[in-house]
Amino acid sequence: MTARLTLRTSGPRDTRALAAALAEAFESGDVVSLTGELGAGKTCFVQGAARGLGVSTRVTSPSFLLRRDYEGRVGVVHLDVYRLDDLGPAVAGGSPGGRAARARLGRR
Ligand SMILES: Nc1ncnc2c1ncn2[C@@H]1O[C@H](COP(=O)(O)OP(=O)(O)OP(=O)(O)O)[C@@H](O)[C@H]1O
Ligand SMILES: [Mg+2]
Repeated sequence: MTARLTLRTSGPRDTRALAAALAEAFESGDVVSLTGELGAGKTCFVQGAARGLGVSTRVTSPSFLLRRDYEGRVGVVHLDVYRLDDLGPAVAGGSPGGRAARARLGRR
C-alpha cells in the first residue's frame, strides 16, 4: 500500500515531535529516506525519530561521516548519502522484508 500525506510543522521542536510520533510505527529493517535542501530539517527529523525509537544519546548530523549508529529499541543507522552516486551499498542494511518510506522536507 502506498499512502501520501502532507504535514506542516511550525518549527524544529514540532518537527522532532512529529518524527518521534511517526517512529513509534518503525520496525527493525525499515528504511526511511529523507530528501530536502540544506537546512530543510532532515537532521531535526532524525533527532526526533531517534528519540521516538528510544535513542538516548545526542544525534548529530553525520556530515563528514557517511554513517552513525545508535542503540534504541531497534538499532538505528543514520546515513548521509548525498555524496554517493549509488545508494545500493548504503541502504543494504535494511533487511529483506523491511518497509521503505520516503519523506520530502522543505519550506513553504
Ligand atoms: N519546521 C521546521 N522544522 C525543522 N527545522 C526548522 C523548522 N523551521 C525552522 N527550522 C530550522 O531549520 C534548520 C533545519 O536544520 P537541519 O540541520 O535539521 O536541516 P538539514 O536538512 O539536516 O540540513 P543539512 O542538509 O545542511 O544537513 C534548523 O536551524 C531549524 O531551527
Ligand atoms: Mg542535516
